[in-house]
Amino acid sequence: LADLTAPQILRIVNHAHYLKQVSVPWLAPQSKKSARLRMPSQSLFNKSIALLFAKRSTRTRVSAETAAVLLGGRALFLGREDIQLGVNETPRDTARVIGGMCQGIFARVGAHEEIEELARYSPVPVLNALSSLWHPTQTLADVLTLHEHAHLFDTALKTPPPANKPLPQLRPLTIAYVGDSTNVLHDMLVTYPRLGHKMRVASPEKPAYQCPQPVWDRVTQLGCDKDIWWGSDPKEAVKGADVVVTDTWISMGQEAEKAQRLQDFAGYQVTEALCRDANPDWKFLHCLPRKQEEVDDQVFYGPRSLVFPESDNRKWTIMAAFDLLFGKWDLAGEKTLK
Ligand code: CP
Ligand code: NVA
Repeated sequence: LADLTAPQILRIVNHAHYLKQVSVPWLAPQSKKSARLRMPSQSLFNKSIALLFAKRSTRTRVSAETAAVLLGGRALFLGREDIQLGVNETPRDTARVIGGMCQGIFARVGAHEEIEELARYSPVPVLNALSSLWHPTQTLADVLTLHEHAHLFDTALKTPPPANKPLPQLRPLTIAYVGDSTNVLHDMLVTYPRLGHKMRVASPEKPAYQCPQPVWDRVTQLGCDKDIWWGSDPKEAVKGADVVVTDTWISMGQEAEKAQRLQDFAGYQVTEALCRDANPDWKFLHCLPRKQEEVDDQVFYGPRSLVFPESDNRKWTIMAAFDLLFGKWDLAGEKTLK
């Protein structure tokens, strides 16, 4: 998301809201007259999107496959065991070959450099489905979820947004993140301050849990750092927070560090007690998959939790990104989002 402007990010999120309304008719009852007109864009008709996934996925994969269907196209799941990449073929050659047959590549990789290389050599757009440094489509879903629940943060709004209406504005929020400096956090850091929100982050003091320099460089280039407080005390981080967010303490590929990490993150579990000084109406977000150590059941399954609307919104935001950045890309090129 650091590669997009704030209006471009909101354009995708608002488009996701529209696609959700027209794809799930019972969300927005339509008049008979408008029913035929109000259907999802078919911008992927006769097109194929490659899902190049080197790591496991439930939400991102299912979102991508089902969204491609709704847009009239097809997604090809290409897992690590399926194709020559990494065993018999380089990322450079793979990008050129797949890009010669498909109209977009949605890639989940290990090291972030791998997706940079795919993007460099692909003739078609490449979207990040998660890398070591970033997870942009997760933040898109989180932003949509917060806008849909704007009434929970703003007494003047009172009710959820009516069907067929644009997304409501969000009042400036304080968003706290407690946990590891993960790909999920990094896209929040380059997005929320540009949308007018403040961030408060707590991670343990060890260098391994601090923001990687290439990410912090993007944060400062975008001027986001002035709206980010960063410390090591989770109780301090959640003070006054409207939203509390966390991620797993053991990301994919870090399984060997589990014992050390459980020790280092002691005291970071999100609970009612930890968040005593948050805004009394605070809400909870988590990208999932979730482990009990980072958030207890009372919060995760309780009334503060927006985690399942958030996971539903992975589909609509990925669908919006596919429509604007794959389906319509060859019609309008880089102007698609302007
Ligand atoms: N949140 C998320 O990316 O989930 P998956 O790993 O299941 O896709
Ligand atoms: N930080 C986690 C996110 C999973 C969606 C990981 O990279 O495994």
